[in-house]
Amino acid sequence: MTQPKTYFVRSYGCQMNVYDAERMEELLGADGMTRAESQDDADLVVLNTCHIREKAAEKVYSEIGRIRKKGEKSGRKAMVAVAGCVAQAEGEEIARRAPSVDVIVGPQAYHRLPAMTRTAAAGTRAVDTDLPTLAKFKALGTARRARPSSFLTIQEGCDKFCTYCVVPYTRGAEVSRPADILLEEARKLADGGAREIVLLGQNVNAYRDEHGVGFGDLIGRVAAIHGIERIRYTTSHPADMTDELIAAHGEIQALMPYLHLPVQSGSDRVLKAMNRSHTAESYSDTIAALRRVRPDIAISGDFIVGFPGETEAEFEETLKIVDATRYAQAYSFKYSPRPGTPAATMDTQIAELVKAERLERLQSALNAQQIRFNQNSVGLCVNVLIERPGKREGQVVGKSPWLQSVHFDAEGAAIGDIVAVEIESAGPNSLAGRRRMSDDRTGRGQVA
Ligand code: 5AD
Ligand code: SF4
Repeated sequence: MTQPKTYFVRSYGCQMNVYDAERMEELLGADGMTRAESQDDADLVVLNTCHIREKAAEKVYSEIGRIRKKGEKSGRKAMVAVAGCVAQAEGEEIARRAPSVDVIVGPQAYHRLPAMTRTAAAGTRAVDTDLPTLAKFKALGTARRARPSSFLTIQEGCDKFCTYCVVPYTRGAEVSRPADILLEEARKLADGGAREIVLLGQNVNAYRDEHGVGFGDLIGRVAAIHGIERIRYTTSHPADMTDELIAAHGEIQALMPYLHLPVQSGSDRVLKAMNRSHTAESYSDTIAALRRVRPDIAISGDFIVGFPGETEAEFEETLKIVDATRYAQAYSFKYSPRPGTPAATMDTQIAELVKAERLERLQSALNAQQIRFNQNSVGLCVNVLIERPGKREGQVVGKSPWLQSVHFDAEGAAIGDIVAVEIESAGPNSLAGRRRMSDDRTGRGQVA
């Protein structure tokens, strides 16, 4: 096989993978390769995979099969690299199930991807699934392509070991990147045109660097960077919502009024079996404290239904916490047994049909809340950070402070601008409106 000249990175799963995929593209670009228009045109296809649920992992194998078949048909075989969490968790199984894969690289080793393509081009499959997180970031440096809303990974890995979750095994132990390096990266992003920074981590609010800089402190320092108008962070654990961090939501103007705070279940027995170190009550207390300091904060969450042993009454407690919390947005899943996790071998697994029925009930409650939340925005004038062109000529799409997508006519505004938009209509997943020309200002909250 010859050394690839073009690449295509396809990403699955969470925002951390989106960040990683961009860094891989930068690495391959710096190594002299160019980005192919589509996966089918590329000499190198990188599948940046997700292992969180069974369906996500199975998608990878069917995609590998599709690429191989296409190569056989056209006689032009692309180099295939499997990156991300499936590579980390199932490196050996990939080699067995999909012998056509040329490179297997885990999430903490992808800085070696260019070198690994050369090994593969020379005819040997290249495999690296070591977990030295900080070595990777050192090798990557801080030169980045900025977007109006740019991701910044500040922390990786997880020490929480929820009994259903593969993350502690695929991403390794919690590691926080040093604040000074993060601030340098954030400043470069701001200079390159970023107006919003999204701080990323599997347990982002457990952030604490080796010099003792905590998460609230880091947010304050990023907020002080010239050009940065908005800050978000994801994903948080309820147990790490410290008083200092809650207070920051009331004090730091740039911190957007939106928080993704997974609860997973409303039943204390299930939460305990999940090893979630919080209760339904402590979660609700945290939400109440956040709403006291920032009354307009929108809450988003994650839920799992059908965890082993979950009874109908316990599931109904989840519906109760949904009712009480009033979510703006949420993600909900059927429990999926993951190899190597404690819950996968519990002998009280729930039937697929029961899981499906519970998921449907939960999702209909969550969808109704999301629609209500969006409808309540109609008539408001909100600041929107413009992120990309819309479908129609002259139309653009951006985000409200509450992370709602807003479609409107640019009328002279450009990508990266923050403008005031009067919301005229709401759908389940987005809003539409019209610019209010006299009111443009910073992106920090609502205009009227
Ligand atoms: N089954 C179903 N959902 C899961 N999640 C994590 N592991 C599993 C699993 N084994 C969900 C949780 C988590 C989100 C990222 O994915 O809700 O917060
Ligand atoms: Fe997984 Fe729990 Fe860690 Fe989140 S906190 S990554 S759900 S183990």
